[in-house]
Amino acid sequence: MRPLEHLFENNRRWAERMEREQPDFFRELARSQNPDYLWIGCSDSRVPSNSIIGLKAGELFVHRNIANVVSQTDLNLLSALQYAVDVLSVRHVILCGHYGCGGIKAALSREDHGLIGNWLWLVRNVYQKHRTALVAIENEEQRFNRLCELNMIEQLYHLCHTTVVQKCWEQERELTIHGWMYDLETGLLRDMGLDLTSQGETEESYLAMVTQQERRRSPR
Ligand code: CO
Repeated sequence: MRPLEHLFENNRRWAERMEREQPDFFRELARSQNPDYLWIGCSDSRVPSNSIIGLKAGELFVHRNIANVVSQTDLNLLSALQYAVDVLSVRHVILCGHYGCGGIKAALSREDHGLIGNWLWLVRNVYQKHRTALVAIENEEQRFNRLCELNMIEQLYHLCHTTVVQKCWEQERELTIHGWMYDLETGLLRDMGLDLTSQGETEESYLAMVTQQERRRSPR
């Protein structure tokens, strides 16, 4: 038996099912991809992008990293973003954070996590920026989940300020940046009301979202 035989078996069954449901599925897909959406999410195995929103192969362009971070110096993310927007002409970029994010939890702890500590520094900055509002939340789980939301909002803000998105909006090309949260416990997405189509909207929504703390104690 070859290593990981069960995965090859799964793969064969999947390919057969797809072909049965839609003959020539793979042959047509092999010619070109034409996804409508770019998904930027966490690498967490419990947040499988395509499954969550019921999309098949070819329907979603995906970039995932630990804690769905958008860094202006991350060539990997910027390349995926530019390719999706400029070449594949996706009109929707979804940045999806999730509650209970292990990466974010690790960023908060004082333990040494090795190399990943450098990456999580980007999340640590989010915590520092909103520290006062966060420590005011007494319930530990609620505080943690609010940080998960704030991390998504900050990363969304970074995303909207990348040259790729800025250029797109300056040229008045249609592009909406969506900010969502995913709940591991229910399998449901939460629409955060963040559907940004311009620089002005971005600044307005960002301000409204980060000051929400005072009005809404519970993050869920
Ligand atoms: Co995560």
